[in-house]
Amino acid sequence: MIIEAGQSKFQIDLNRHLRENNENPALTHLICEISEASKYIINSIRTGDLGVAGTSNLYGEEQLALDVLSDRILKKRLIHSGVVGKIASEEASDVLTIVDNAEHLYSVAYDPLDGSSLVDVNLAVGTIVSIFKGDNIFQTGRKQVAAMYILYGPRTTLIYSTGNGVHEFSLNQLMEYTLVQENIQMNTKANIYSPGGLRNKYTKGVAEYVRHLEEKGVKLRYSGGFVPDFNQVLLKGKGIFFYPHLKGAPNGKLRLLFELNPMAFLIEQAGGAASNGKMPILDIVPKKIDQREPIFIGCKEDVEKAEEYVATED
Ligand code: F6P
Ligand code: MN
Repeated sequence: MIIEAGQSKFQIDLNRHLRENNENPALTHLICEISEASKYIINSIRTGDLGVAGTSNLYGEEQLALDVLSDRILKKRLIHSGVVGKIASEEASDVLTIVDNAEHLYSVAYDPLDGSSLVDVNLAVGTIVSIFKGDNIFQTGRKQVAAMYILYGPRTTLIYSTGNGVHEFSLNQLMEYTLVQENIQMNTKANIYSPGGLRNKYTKGVAEYVRHLEEKGVKLRYSGGFVPDFNQVLLKGKGIFFYPHLKGAPNGKLRLLFELNPMAFLIEQAGGAASNGKMPILDIVPKKIDQREPIFIGCKEDVEKAEEYVATED
């Protein structure tokens, strides 16, 4: 990125950043459309109805009116973008085909409002998006051509990667996403950890791994929202988030297609790692739309250490 004399990097908006990095125009358009949709999602989070929708998603979880609304906002943008052939949403039970045989277009899997149950207590939530070229959503995460998330916190942060580093943008007063930093890089060792799941359901290996982290003086930092918790790990550059396999839930809780693949793509782009305890998240071949996997994601050495502890369980 060339910053001209006298020009602040804060003036570089998302569209310009993508164009100047020679991204494919259709992919640039798609990422910008998602960023536009997020502005309406922000508005619904700030002012929308906090009640339930009276429906449930494919995991049998009760949907909030905000889940349904965020899904509609994003879906509509994607359908009208002209560059998307297939859509899978965490809030829908089937893949939606917009254009048949759309090898030349993109497929998008997304979680429109991750952590939505935190909105009523005013904690941060986010939108997570995974993008593939062609019309097959059931590919390994390594085949993603782009991944991004938007974090709705006290400020709004957008993080994206198209495979050329991970870049951070922030929403300014004019509601434009402007560049904060390029090429975010993780350190190799964590000093914070963010552990999901009930501790009394942890397996022996995971419980010992937590003991190991605490003995090293690694500090607990967990909000209960994957996007803000992951964002903290990524931007501080020194952390690990995990939602492990549990007694009675061998696949953990988080969803491969909608939550894990995009975050794993971003962390690897930043020099970190993401594993299900046994193999890289990005190498898992999805078998079904609602597939869950355990996840250990963050600094490379800490993810490797987690794998060592998990291996002791076999
Ligand atoms: O989408 C699921 C989610 O809300 C994530 O945002 C978060 O990481 C996780 O669930 C929290 O689950 P738990 O309350 O079991 O720690
Ligand atoms: Mn979610």
